[in-house]
Amino acid sequence: VYGIIKTKRDGGELSKQQITQFIREYVAGTVPDYQASALLMALFLRGLNSRETADLTQAMVDSGDVVDLSSLPGLTVDKHSTGGVGDKTTLVLGPLLAAAGLTVAKMSGRGLGHTGGTLDKLEAIPGLSTQLSAGEMVAQVRRIGIAVIAQTARLVPADRLLYALRDVTATVDSLPLIASSIMSKKLAAGAHAIVLDVKTGSGAFMQTTDKAFELARAMIEIGTSAGRAVVAVVSNMNQPLGRAVGNALEVEEAIQILRGDGPDDLRELCLVLGSQLLQLAENEVNEERARRHLVDVLDSGAALTRFRDLVVAQGGDGRVVDAPESVLPRAVCTDAVTSPGSGYIQGIDALRVGEAARVLGAGRLMKDDIIDPAAGVRLSLKVGDAVSAGQEWASIYAPDAARLAEGSQVLSGAITVSIEKPAHIPLVFGLVDRYGRETRW
Ligand code: URA
Repeated sequence: VYGIIKTKRDGGELSKQQITQFIREYVAGTVPDYQASALLMALFLRGLNSRETADLTQAMVDSGDVVDLSSLPGLTVDKHSTGGVGDKTTLVLGPLLAAAGLTVAKMSGRGLGHTGGTLDKLEAIPGLSTQLSAGEMVAQVRRIGIAVIAQTARLVPADRLLYALRDVTATVDSLPLIASSIMSKKLAAGAHAIVLDVKTGSGAFMQTTDKAFELARAMIEIGTSAGRAVVAVVSNMNQPLGRAVGNALEVEEAIQILRGDGPDDLRELCLVLGSQLLQLAENEVNEERARRHLVDVLDSGAALTRFRDLVVAQGGDGRVVDAPESVLPRAVCTDAVTSPGSGYIQGIDALRVGEAARVLGAGRLMKDDIIDPAAGVRLSLKVGDAVSAGQEWASIYAPDAARLAEGSQVLSGAITVSIEKPAHIPLVFGLVDRYGRETRW
């Protein structure tokens, strides 16, 4: 391992055999953390070429179980978001794609820091469990076409160990390390066709659009070299997606979309991601046709029905679909946050809103923190809306007065208001297709 570290430190290229050896020995516990940390820093500073990145990803996949979806009928699809604020697209897209005839066997994660996680959102529904085994997931998917479960402990153990080490050695923000971390989990989860939602902006890992496209290309290359069909959409995370941020609030908003209501940006992003996946999975080249198909499914109520099937199959209270306000938990304390000035809202800083939601109780700072499913933020206004001084632009929800006060303070710095109407900001910046071809919108 000393030689591996030295090669990378000096800017050399690692062979597949060296990468595989390092991952195998690190997971087995024979490489100490101090050597792994040194190698991570060398990788961070010197980078990895695309062959090394693909080899690292495969070595991480091989460190644990790989889910076998081959017994399922139809094309299995997956979706991944690089993380954002108010991003509840999986709750809409999963049932929508299942109702459109695709097979959705999805493993999701929990929220950390300012970003939310699908598992926390789903678990806001009373009774719902995401702790299914891979076998139980496959059986449920065979019955109803969809399951959304927690990633099992045996999936990509190398990523879990390395991510914890990256977190404390300032080596998280490396594009090839992020790409291989995300794609190792996608490859191990077994789906044939994958759509990636790469976020860019204040609430995202990638702060610039160029970096987001670069990450998208790197992930697609990994997917292609592993024989999967992968497409990426680069989308805006400068302001939260939709209006709800916080677990039960986001479930309620996802149900609105499935009913044909809800915020336009959330519906639009779901249709963009969904139509890309439909084109990929069914070799449908006509985007317009793919989109129309999804709109028809949404309007028919079939996606809402499929969401109910998912909730009930995983032990949740299916009445949430008809009366979310009486089934979902409600916060004890609520307050309004008002605008400091008059004019137009120029920006709503997604990072700050995510942090406010976390402070209110909706998220975690440390992995084992307990969350409050009812806590969070609901935006009454979004970027571009007119506002007057003292007008409510957000409402906040918390389990106690102390959190409410702290959350209110964090949130109050999140908006900027000025006299001019802001220029339109796009929701989607473009996409990278399965062949790595980039289109900017
Ligand atoms: N998400 C991941 O799963 N891994 C990273 O390295 C960054 C974001």
